[in-house]
Amino acid sequence: MFLAFNPIDSIKLIILDNMHLKLSFCSPLIALASMFTLIQAPISSQAAGEKKLEVFSWWTSGGEAAALDALFSVYKKQYPGVEIINATVAGGGGSAARPVLQTRLAGGNPPDTWQSHPGWELLGQYVEPGYCDEITDLYKSDGWDKAFPKGLVDLMTKDGKTYAVLAGVHHGNVLWYNKKLLDKNGITIGDKIGFDDFFAACDKLKKAGIAALGVGDSGIWASAQLFENTLLGVVGPQGWTDLFSGKMKWDDPQVKKAMGYFAKMQDYLNSDHSALSWDQAVGALMEGKVAFTSMGDWAEGEFVKANKKANEDYGWVSHPGTDGSFIIVADGFTLAKGAPHKDATIAWLKSIGSKEAQEAFNPLKGSIPARTDVDKSKFDVYHQWSMNSFANSSLLPSCVHGEAAPAAFQQALNDAVTAFIVDKNVDNFANALVQAAKESESNK
Ligand code: GAL
Repeated sequence: MFLAFNPIDSIKLIILDNMHLKLSFCSPLIALASMFTLIQAPISSQAAGEKKLEVFSWWTSGGEAAALDALFSVYKKQYPGVEIINATVAGGGGSAARPVLQTRLAGGNPPDTWQSHPGWELLGQYVEPGYCDEITDLYKSDGWDKAFPKGLVDLMTKDGKTYAVLAGVHHGNVLWYNKKLLDKNGITIGDKIGFDDFFAACDKLKKAGIAALGVGDSGIWASAQLFENTLLGVVGPQGWTDLFSGKMKWDDPQVKKAMGYFAKMQDYLNSDHSALSWDQAVGALMEGKVAFTSMGDWAEGEFVKANKKANEDYGWVSHPGTDGSFIIVADGFTLAKGAPHKDATIAWLKSIGSKEAQEAFNPLKGSIPARTDVDKSKFDVYHQWSMNSFANSSLLPSCVHGEAAPAAFQQALNDAVTAFIVDKNVDNFANALVQAAKESESNK
């Protein structure tokens, strides 16, 4: 069985129509003419002593580090003799890594390759200022033009030039739970859940003295993600498209309703949430200290790393109200313009795009392979669920992970969430986002 090809028209449209967008996207096929211009030097042609590769990422949690290590192992096997410099900056969602990266890029000191999300983050922050070299020809030479969904490749393509290759595709809107804890409290979760049932379960747990909803927002993005998922649960995929294309306003009653739900959720949080990281919150769920956590499926990487059993120790369902929608959080790697070790970097990108690497990395990371020709039977029950969901859902870009809107709006959302957690003032929250959207519009 193969992962079905999905045209991803919805995600493409949202970003194409985006109110903030001034970059032009086009099919990678348009770049065919230039495909043969970039001749790859064999890895052996590197200068003596220069067989190094610096990989920059924020993959430091247990599951993330294990998955990154799997990518390194495949690379070392495919291209022996290169010393890897593992340049990580801890902090989920790249909250601490991205500012460090920006400083390095602006200072002309780039790592060879770095982790980036498609859409706004890649094209707006890295391609537009000229920090990336195109890798378009690899899509032809390595057959990626047939192996990767065109809709996703388009999100990494500007003016017919493609700038990254995807290691995997995360599912952002997943609600995870401690199965044994819910069983003990007489709570059963079906194959989907709405807000009423979710809050009823939270009330029951609260009465039993249990913090129902685990959050680790020492990096505020984790709370922003809880809001993002809740927002989608209320406005639905069409509303999501309308919000990010400017057709729906951020003070729409539906948005305010989602803000109200998000405020209500704060009543069920673990008291130490602001001291924990996202993976510590997942750890608290495993230990039975909290019942639920709403998190992208990098959480699955933590369950796998801890040898937890799916549907026995933990379970999952789409975040309340979001069944049928899949928030994409895809992880790509770039080629720095002026990469200090260009040949080793091109080899790294070729390795990431190989079936072998995608099959080694994704089971540990929690993401599904970006390649569509991977054998589904090699993946576990969670991945089966996510692959089916990817093939049958509305695919939507994440704002919290830099895909749907420019960095300034992403930051404004984080700031507004930080303020809202304190004042719970829906009008202030909505107005801050209306203002941020206007500023993005006027910066076009
Ligand atoms: C996302 C990234 C994931 C995962 C997560 C938590 O931005 O795409 O791969 O690392 O952050 O750190």
